[in-house]
Amino acid sequence: MYLFKKVSDLQKCLDKLRNGGASIGLVPTMGALHEGHLSLIDIAKADIDVVVTSIFVNPTQFNQPEDLIKYPRTSSKDIEILTSHGNDVLFMPPVDEVYPEGLNTKLDLDFNQLDKTMEGEFRPGHFDGMAQVVNRLGNIVQAHKMYFGQKDFQQYAIVQNMLKQLNSSTKAVMCPIIREEDGLALSSRNVRLKADIRQKATIIYQTLLKAKSLIMDSVAKDVTAFAMKQLTFKDFKPEYFEIVDGNTLLPIDDYKSSDFIIACTAVWAGDVRLIDNMILKQQKKISTTSRLYAK
Ligand code: PAJ
Repeated sequence: MYLFKKVSDLQKCLDKLRNGGASIGLVPTMGALHEGHLSLIDIAKADIDVVVTSIFVNPTQFNQPEDLIKYPRTSSKDIEILTSHGNDVLFMPPVDEVYPEGLNTKLDLDFNQLDKTMEGEFRPGHFDGMAQVVNRLGNIVQAHKMYFGQKDFQQYAIVQNMLKQLNSSTKAVMCPIIREEDGLALSSRNVRLKADIRQKATIIYQTLLKAKSLIMDSVAKDVTAFAMKQLTFKDFKPEYFEIVDGNTLLPIDDYKSSDFIIACTAVWAGDVRLIDNMILKQQKKISTTSRLYAK
């Protein structure tokens, strides 16, 4: 595996590969890698010639300074994992390579309601910083495609919107959520869950499944009320549970209101904030690569 810390070194290598006709895919991450991240790399490897994985804990997307400080940094373990996983190129830049002095990387885009609801409501500024870094990394790598997890569905929706507004030729690919045996979505935060709370955290997946079965013959607000109640008990507190249109992220009324419906939730499990989601209805065909990994 090639490892680069400097933009110029990475670009020299990628230029050579591109000139040889290779297509380049980017898997942006903040490290503390787990099977969820690795699944994106697997999908990218099956889909494109060269996979660049980036590890960069992006300061501009943290709205709480202490979260940035607390964010797990496990670079030597991550390098080992990526090497044994057959990742092609790792880009691990310091902050001043991504945001060099004098270079304006800020985006002045209006995401309409996409960045105002759900995560946007509870993490102001987060999505501006996320879009800024994804655009910057995408420009550095000149990626043909970028790979994102459905785990952060709102993030994916905003990236897609950003690429459209920028008239970018880069495509964003959404990859399915990887879960533990009991349904808990993999997350670098899961290790912080106390044993008893970890055991109970499967309720999030169970509630999403239940919402999927209920939505067919109930109005969305009743399903939401049911889910909020279900997720509220000792040590558990939902911040939101929303059933929205997958394109606009606006709440829907019922099953007939949209062809693409997704339930998204954020739940405090003890002192750990977990997010998860589930597609409740999708009439569009999913891609073959996604189907490979769909459970
Ligand atoms: P990070 O939280 O490290 O996640 C990197 C990618 O892994 C994201 O696309 C995320 O959706 C995906 N991912 C995380 N858990 C997953 C799971 N259980 N199953 C499938 N995919 C999963 O998201 C970010 O970093 C940052 O915001 C970033 C896009 C890198 C910009 O800084």
